[in-house]
Amino acid sequence: MNYRELGRTGWKVSEISFGAWAIGSAWGDVDDRDSLAALHRAVDLGVNFFDTADVYGDGRSERLLARLKRERPEEIVIATKAGRRLNPHVAAGYNRENLSAFIDRSLQNLETDALDLLQLHCPPTAVYYQPELFGALDDFVRQGKIRYYGVSVEKVEQALKAIEYPGVQTVQIIFNLFRQRPAELFFGEAQKRKVGILARVPLASGLLTGKLNPQSQFAADDHRAFNRHGEQFDRGETFSGVDYETGLQAVAELNALRPDEMTMVQFALRWILMFEAVTCAIPGAKFAGQVAENAGASDFPPLSAEAMRAAREIYEGRVQPLVHHYW
Ligand SMILES: NC(=O)c1ccc[n+]([C@@H]2O[C@H](COP(=O)([O-])OP(=O)(O)OC[C@H]3O[C@@H](n4cnc5c(N)ncnc54)[C@H](OP(=O)(O)O)[C@@H]3O)[C@@H](O)[C@H]2O)c1
Repeated sequence: MNYRELGRTGWKVSEISFGAWAIGSAWGDVDDRDSLAALHRAVDLGVNFFDTADVYGDGRSERLLARLKRERPEEIVIATKAGRRLNPHVAAGYNRENLSAFIDRSLQNLETDALDLLQLHCPPTAVYYQPELFGALDDFVRQGKIRYYGVSVEKVEQALKAIEYPGVQTVQIIFNLFRQRPAELFFGEAQKRKVGILARVPLASGLLTGKLNPQSQFAADDHRAFNRHGEQFDRGETFSGVDYETGLQAVAELNALRPDEMTMVQFALRWILMFEAVTCAIPGAKFAGQVAENAGASDFPPLSAEAMRAAREIYEGRVQPLVHHYW
């Protein structure tokens, strides 16, 4: 496993880290025993950074991570998120009082006195124009409730606005073979300010694994069944907003570019690591075997310039016209 510096935090985190949404909720049935086995395998393989949120299974994901921390002596960093408990989810809800209460709840779930990294959880755009909220986050750092803070965003424009606040250490954004716009302007701006970038949805919700086909079935409580058109949250979070059939065709073409020694999963993750602005990819995983395959992506040499060019062409031909300008 290779490690990269996370913003100005001084932490060096695994370039393949762990996304803990699926082990909380919204991905069909998951068994906590499988989830714990996956988490332990991640630590065995050198993963030291875990991304979760207070709403993933209403604390279930956070509590599994607390248990992992109890059971392992290794230093691990846990990033959580707040804001999505608001109902309705509106900008005015992002205030000092509400955030303080959300933080207290995450402190309890994670069995700790200070959150390592708190991220605003894809708030409405107006929140980025509330400097007093970022002032409150600075106060939480001073009080010792959180060590650092960052944001999780839907859109490049939100990311660019967020990094104007000097306390923002990290931006979590969708970045993968089907979502390439962040690399155009945002990555350079983030690098100038030494802001860490967490590449989420790196496998386009599983599409980029190459294992899905037109007949694949998803449980009713899996967002890949219920959110394809943004019925419950931003449609970009499901299959990166790419129409399913188009995605399958593009994956078949990408698969032909993959060196023999890599799986499609590893090719997709290694592609993300080609961008030095990215601190880490945070693939979700429910099983230890998935974790091992994902972590293995860090061990491969860089992809060839030819493979990078061909992958860009597939994006430009099939995917870009459908999604590029939405996020
Ligand atoms: N708003 C936000 O801030 C936000 C939104 C979305 C995600 N995130 C974060 O980003 C993380 C990653 O995104 P994501 O989980 O949505 O999508 P993802 O990482 O693109 O896809 C994860 C899913 O792909 C499948 N998979 C993973 N590794 C595999 C392997 N080696 N072989 C076969 N299948 C594999 C698993 O599902 P199956 O086994 O069921 O196919 C897994 O749950 C999340 O866990 C979460 O921490 C944050």
